[in-house]
Amino acid sequence: MSEHVTVGVLHGPNLNLLGRREPEQYGDLTLEEIDGRLRRRARELGADVESFQSNAEGELVDWIQDRAAEVDGWLVNAGGLTHTSVSLRDALVASGRPFVEVHLSQVFAREPFRRRSVLADAAVGLVTGFRARSYLLGLEGLLSRLSDGA
Ligand code: DQA
Repeated sequence: MSEHVTVGVLHGPNLNLLGRREPEQYGDLTLEEIDGRLRRRARELGADVESFQSNAEGELVDWIQDRAAEVDGWLVNAGGLTHTSVSLRDALVASGRPFVEVHLSQVFAREPFRRRSVLADAAVGLVTGFRARSYLLGLEGLLSRLSDGA
């Protein structure tokens, strides 16, 4: 792992509504609170995070392309695009950086269409169902993967 590690955090559509969106699925923390927790945990682990949320698929793709050279790996909660977006998958793969897929809810315990991810087989790992903690667990997994070089 290079001395200074930067993790790009992608939040997909509707995640800007966290805190008031289906708290029984997603918990009651806002996106800002989740990003704050991620920043603090990353700092403890000697890394930086840069977060980006968009409801637009193309903006997420643009951000990946713009930031890929500066980022060592990605933490990705693509929201509903998880289940549909070949473009997002292609952008992540083209970046050449490893990514961990995260979900607040336990996607395998919900509607059948949420069991399919077009990202997961390209990811180094997947964390699902631990609410906001999914992001923190995903961050730890990604950083240990980056430091292994594996
Ligand atoms: C989600 C799960 C997706 O199925 C859903 O469309 C979301 C959030 C999660 O974090 O649990 O928007 O990615």
